[in-house]
Amino acid sequence: MPVSQIEDNLDPEKLPRHVAIIMDGNGRWAKRKGLPRIYGHKKGVEVAKSIIIKSRELNIPYLTLFAFSKENWQRPKTEVDTLLLLLKEYLQKELPLMIEKEIRLKIIGDTEDFPEELKKLIEQVEKKTENLKGMTLVLALSYSGRAEILRATKLLAEEVEKGKLSVKDINEELFRRFFYFPELPDPDLLIRTSGELRISNFLLYQLAYTEFYFTETLWPDFTEEEYLKALFSYQKRERRFGRIYEF
Ligand code: FPP
Repeated sequence: MPVSQIEDNLDPEKLPRHVAIIMDGNGRWAKRKGLPRIYGHKKGVEVAKSIIIKSRELNIPYLTLFAFSKENWQRPKTEVDTLLLLLKEYLQKELPLMIEKEIRLKIIGDTEDFPEELKKLIEQVEKKTENLKGMTLVLALSYSGRAEILRATKLLAEEVEKGKLSVKDINEELFRRFFYFPELPDPDLLIRTSGELRISNFLLYQLAYTEFYFTETLWPDFTEEEYLKALFSYQKRERRFGRIYEF
């Protein structure tokens, strides 16, 4: 099916409210081309930009991209430095477009791990876009799902210790208030590229009822067309949330 036809076949009423993406395969893409891994990441940023803009055009309210995991710190320093530089350049260059397209930026993850200059830039971009209502772009940076759950548990326990909350008040809704971005709805659709069939410590709590779309395509080769295919596949699924539907 040509792109325009897939788009025409999408039901705008049934688009996911929140799409989360594990952008995997940058290194392998570069290696296959005989290039250093950083070229894969550079191309990966270009692809991320096109998917952000397509999501905005489609009026998808929340898009979360796994841009840097807590485990990524263990990569060689040159690769980590390049990823941080790409992130900095992205935030600097794309701010005007984000404002024009009314895209709000939110970061989830342990940003205190980042260099001072990058932390300041993140804060500035979040502040300058905080009232924009077109779409929320969430970048997961130095993110680990387990770390998010542990952090929430500690923050909640502190409130109980101080006597501000009681154990009997704890429920799912209250627990979520201690996540990095409490307002973020659970993802309806998770996309992972590059043929790996894993969650890799991404949004562990939030993915409970999410639909998964896995593709062999490496992230730098992921196109708008394939994104539309993933959305189309999502729309054909019956979501039951543990219930049964009998007709
Ligand atoms: C996984 O590929 C990708 C990453 C670790 C980084 C992803 C980051 C980007 C695409 C850029 C950030 C985006 C924005 C919008 C600033 P890999 O290196 O693990 O690939 P491999 O599994 O083939 O080695």
